[in-house]
Amino acid sequence: MAQFDLISPTLFGLEGVCAQELKRLDAQNVRAENGRVLWDYTPESLVRANLCLRTGERVLLRLGRFSAPDFDALYDGARALPWEDFIPRDGAFPIRCRTVGSRLTSQQRCVANLKAAVGDRLGAAYGLEHMPETGVEYAIRLFIMDDMAELYLDSTGPSLHKRGYRAMSVVAPLRETLAAGMVLLSRYRGKDPLRDPFCGSGTIPIEAAMIAKNRAPGLDRSFSAQKWAWVSSQLWLEEADRAMDLEYDGEYDIEGSDIDPKAVELARDNAVKAGVEDLCRFRVADATKFTPPEPRGRVVTNPPYGERILEKREAEDLYAAFGRAWRAVPEGWSLSLLSSHTEFERTFGRKADKKRKLYNGRLKCDLFQYG
Ligand SMILES: C[S@@+](CC[C@H](N)C(=O)[O-])C[C@H]1O[C@@H](n2cnc3c(N)ncnc32)[C@H](O)[C@@H]1O
Repeated sequence: MAQFDLISPTLFGLEGVCAQELKRLDAQNVRAENGRVLWDYTPESLVRANLCLRTGERVLLRLGRFSAPDFDALYDGARALPWEDFIPRDGAFPIRCRTVGSRLTSQQRCVANLKAAVGDRLGAAYGLEHMPETGVEYAIRLFIMDDMAELYLDSTGPSLHKRGYRAMSVVAPLRETLAAGMVLLSRYRGKDPLRDPFCGSGTIPIEAAMIAKNRAPGLDRSFSAQKWAWVSSQLWLEEADRAMDLEYDGEYDIEGSDIDPKAVELARDNAVKAGVEDLCRFRVADATKFTPPEPRGRVVTNPPYGERILEKREAEDLYAAFGRAWRAVPEGWSLSLLSSHTEFERTFGRKADKKRKLYNGRLKCDLFQYG
């Protein structure tokens, strides 16, 4: 099956970081595109990516790519694919579809058409008139962009950002994949102290702790492909063992703080759920009084953005006050700060050394980097 590709969709702006991660996981022929990363399929790579990827949203196995300007082309292209190599006789195959800039616009009709094509192919292969779909789920995803259809099997299930440690959250939590991406973009690898002075539910310090320890983020959750007949359970065990063998045993200086005591309590609970409570600590503190005693370190943080007008002004005052505190911080500290506020640099009082566009869900943000 070496001719197939694996694909991980990413938040816009994280494609390069995700590609780097995959290369470190020994993925072959890694290619970053807009909003996704592709690499060569092997069963090991499918399992490893699910267990270990920090910045990818899911792992899809691409079974086909063909032109689909109309429903006949969609049916014929889909029916030509070897579904019986992947979906067993009783396999269930729910379908999700998204179309962008294409002649086929009705997602409902695309799903019905694809359901018929896959059902007809499997029915012919198994000698059945109707597929019972009573067994394990092999979720199919159809994506049509500019009249090109791509068909995938979703090996992940609930998105990879759902690590399982954040049952409850503050109002504006950061997606785990984005928090991990910010930490990786800050070049933190576990050596220097790391601080998040606006930590909310603790996502950044928790992801930093997992990065420092090289802990695979998927060890505490399950994946759709764990039930698939052609991905052996032995392989999942071997890859989980391999990931655990690669963990470091070290001491790290990671701290999150927030002005809201409830957020701090939540962050502590989440760190316990993530199993990193011994690697990061949390306390109540005002970020506008940020004065680290250490000569060097990294701040990776996500302050309030102020989405509404009044809040916007409050956010500006907060950035100005944090900017004043930052001027007294020793030169050995770097700052990576995510905000959607267009006036961040002006109110903070300094132009960023580097600016990188990142999307927090659909919200366009910048990662402002200093030092
Ligand atoms: C966007 S949220 C951070 C979300 C966090 N990254 C997460 O994943 O949960 C911003 C946080 O800044 C905190 N905050 C606001 N003003 C602050 C201040 N002066 N000092 C410290 N924290 C503050 C808020 O309580 C809120 O939890």
